[in-house]
Amino acid sequence: MKDTLQDIKIRASQEIQEVLESEKLKGIQVKYLGKKGEITRVLRSMGSLSKEERPVIGNLANQVKEEISVLIEERKAQLARGEKAAQWEKERLDVTLPGNLPFFGQKHPLTLVMDEIKEIFLGMGFTIADGPEIETDYYNFEALNIPKEHPARDMQDSFYISEEIVLRTHTSPVQIRTMEKVAPEVPLRIIAPGKVYRRDDDATHSPMFHQVEGFAVDKDISLGDLKGTLLLFARQMFGKELKIRLRPSFFPFTEPSAEVDISCVMCRGEGCRVCGQSGWLEVLGAGMIHPRVLEVSGYNPEEVTGYAFGMGVERIAMLKYGFDDLRLFFSNDLRMLSQF
Ligand code: PHE
Repeated sequence: MKDTLQDIKIRASQEIQEVLESEKLKGIQVKYLGKKGEITRVLRSMGSLSKEERPVIGNLANQVKEEISVLIEERKAQLARGEKAAQWEKERLDVTLPGNLPFFGQKHPLTLVMDEIKEIFLGMGFTIADGPEIETDYYNFEALNIPKEHPARDMQDSFYISEEIVLRTHTSPVQIRTMEKVAPEVPLRIIAPGKVYRRDDDATHSPMFHQVEGFAVDKDISLGDLKGTLLLFARQMFGKELKIRLRPSFFPFTEPSAEVDISCVMCRGEGCRVCGQSGWLEVLGAGMIHPRVLEVSGYNPEEVTGYAFGMGVERIAMLKYGFDDLRLFFSNDLRMLSQF
């Protein structure tokens, strides 16, 4: 029996050493140490031994059992380490692989141009104001010196929600709303960017578009201040050599009023297709705030004067980026939008 145990020990340790997967160790454990395993079988057959031999063989059998257990545990730990290392190797993070770039959105060209316009005027000391897009007839027209039935209303084909409520046709109502709030305080230098709505729809007009209103109120504000401010703006926006000119025009809420042209950004004033050979591009409406508008907003036109201007953002963006169809801005085509 000693020999049998010795033999068991040798075979078991050999098998344990040769095993390569920890799963298979279980089989070996059952084979030698299990209820029907080889050691158990030896212990069971001890009945045939003499009294003296029994404890000796019993001890030896337990010793062999113990040794095999220890070998199995050691091998198990050894294999587990190897398997974990293999697993790590498989899952290792290769920092040299090119990463997956997340899809980043970007600003819409109109937002870029809006931001640039704001930036320029903020740099000149203007502050940004805001107003509702759904506006009352009073702020959109009446307070701006455009009474009901006045032919000037035809300049801006409007979306009426009711007789008194309209989608604002321009950002000029923000002039009234802001002045009402702060009058008679001066100086006031405000820009009001935002969406406006008109019943227009073609290559250069969209029913929704953007404007930036600008206005200043102070003692002794003159047309010269307006012209200087707009020249500075135009040059920062389009380039140093740019010229501007003011042509007499009409708006009910400014007096005098002007259309402001910039020298053509395509041909630099030589004359081309974009400027219709004139060398000039019309970019905004402007003028000195009408005394009546100052008055309804709480200012004394005897004491202060002001200028105002309103520009179309789409128009400026089209000139800046060389677009000939405004509808491209709203077609949500990423091939176009991702170029900016
Ligand atoms: N609100 C005018 C328009 O949309 C533009 C304008 C603004 C003209 C301010 C003069 C002064 O047509």
